[in-house]
Amino acid sequence: MATFNLKINNKTHTVEADMDTPLLWVLRDKINLVGTKFGCGIGQCGSCTVHVDGSATRSCLLVVSQAEGMNITTIEGLSEEGDHPVQKAWLKHDVPQCGYCQAGQIMSAAALLENHPNPSDEDIDVAMDGNICRCGTYVRIKEAIKTASKL
Ligand code: FES
Ligand code: FES
Repeated sequence: MATFNLKINNKTHTVEADMDTPLLWVLRDKINLVGTKFGCGIGQCGSCTVHVDGSATRSCLLVVSQAEGMNITTIEGLSEEGDHPVQKAWLKHDVPQCGYCQAGQIMSAAALLENHPNPSDEDIDVAMDGNICRCGTYVRIKEAIKTASKL
């Protein structure tokens, strides 16, 4: 075990963990930020997506020792009141069904809009490609991203 200082949602958290513990489990089990979900654990589903230094990142693949010193944002820290444009657009389009994948979808969409404020269909397809939704909410996700880009 080692001690790590992690900057998450603009706060520093000191945690004890094995060096190779995935950030996902540190977030969920040590800091109780359970909005970030486990889906596959191998970078294939996107449900664990957070922002690391502003980029959409699979927290199941980033180990805690690599995360030290980086700016990490989880779904809980995306906005103060749940009023990020992507969150507002998600509500407007009633995107979620079971909801399990949605934190990861929202974090990927928010990172996309940070880099491409007016994304093309292709930009959206590329950015959202790794986020799987078993409920098939893809059409509403795309519409919501277009709406969010105008908010
Ligand atoms: S749990 Fe990380 S990509 Fe699936
Ligand atoms: S809303 Fe159910 S998996 Fe996406």
